[in-house]
Amino acid sequence: MADSYIQNLFAERIGGNQYGKSQAIYKFEKIKRARRAAMALNPTAEIIDLGVGEPDEMAFPEIVEKLCAEARKPENRGYADNGDAALKKAAAHYLDRVCGVKGFNPDTEIIHSIGSKAALSILPATLVNPGDYVLMTVPGYGVFGTHAKYYGGNVYNLPLWEEKAFLPDLNSIPGEVLEKSKVLVLNYPNNPTGASATPEFFARVVAFAKEHQLVVVHDAAYAALVFEGKPLSFLAIPGAKDVGIELHSASKTFNMTGWRCGFVAGNELLVKAYGDVKDNSDSGQFLAIQHAAAHGLEHPEITEKIAAKYSRRMDALVEVLSKIGFNAKKPKGSFFLYVKAPRAAVRQGGGRIEFKTAEDVSQWLIAEKLISTVPWDDAGRYLRFSVTFVAKNLADEYRITDEIAKRLGEVKFEF
Ligand SMILES: Cc1ncc(COP(=O)(O)O)c(C=O)c1O
Repeated sequence: MADSYIQNLFAERIGGNQYGKSQAIYKFEKIKRARRAAMALNPTAEIIDLGVGEPDEMAFPEIVEKLCAEARKPENRGYADNGDAALKKAAAHYLDRVCGVKGFNPDTEIIHSIGSKAALSILPATLVNPGDYVLMTVPGYGVFGTHAKYYGGNVYNLPLWEEKAFLPDLNSIPGEVLEKSKVLVLNYPNNPTGASATPEFFARVVAFAKEHQLVVVHDAAYAALVFEGKPLSFLAIPGAKDVGIELHSASKTFNMTGWRCGFVAGNELLVKAYGDVKDNSDSGQFLAIQHAAAHGLEHPEITEKIAAKYSRRMDALVEVLSKIGFNAKKPKGSFFLYVKAPRAAVRQGGGRIEFKTAEDVSQWLIAEKLISTVPWDDAGRYLRFSVTFVAKNLADEYRITDEIAKRLGEVKFEF
């Protein structure tokens, strides 16, 4: 059949007249397909899903109740635009109380987001001209880079190596790239490595940004999910507000992924620019949702309970994987356990399966062991296990980790 004229109208940034014709299958689609195939072949078996990147539980009842009460108020019904005072005030209080970041002006230094993903897609419009460079870490969450490219920008990838504690080596950026760079995008605790930053690293980032006139965008989507101590905010570092902004999200912090709410805080000029482009992109999140998120921000004990659950599950999974030979170390936060992928698996009766990539391992795990993970081959070969698997209760949680141990224990892994 001949192409519709529409085929010739697509913008080059999404493939131009070749849009939709590529046969390439991307990683997450491959995982989905392998999962579907495993389920079709084993319709009664239990798939253990350690691949999901979002909480397994609903928002706490008090947040749901707050939403219901706020949804009934006529004054909350309309366009929220860049938001009212409730979430901004709660966010400033949260930054102070939870992150030790003092003195934020809720009127000028904070604006809500319809989730951090939306903020990461809006922000490039404020900074990126054709030919500009954006510094991104890999493996990572690439949304800012994707949109930077839409605007004609270039992405320079900074690999996160285990030997460097999964922190980027800022000195490795070539001079000619640095000259054209405008933005450094960071994310700690990090997806997928689970690594945390340190105040020393963030202080180096502030100095580096000032020296090279860069804007720092710190995506703190997992910042609140810490297993010890307080969350580390980039904004807590002296001088951070001169160079950047931080993105907080209710998605993981309060089990509100589908609700779509967060906030952007930091440098006043950057927050204003974000607000201006946002105002031309959306009409704000429903005020009832913003007020429910504000309730969460005023109740950080909710996040502490969520983090305690992940910490407990992480302990169990680290123990199971370590016994099987993985070099599994509990991260300081997030819900991701990131481990080196094995090079081979040897079946008990003999028979050796060689893996060339982490993706090979992940495909094998889903097909043979009905365990879903996310592979990363960007800087070394790693598997990401999420402790957000669905369990009915504590006993079920332990049953599932025992089941993982049993299934993986049937082979001997070589690393
Ligand atoms: C690093 C990172 N940033 C941002 C997001 C998206 O957050 P939100 O739900 O607030 O859009 C995710 C979601 O998986 C993520 O992993």
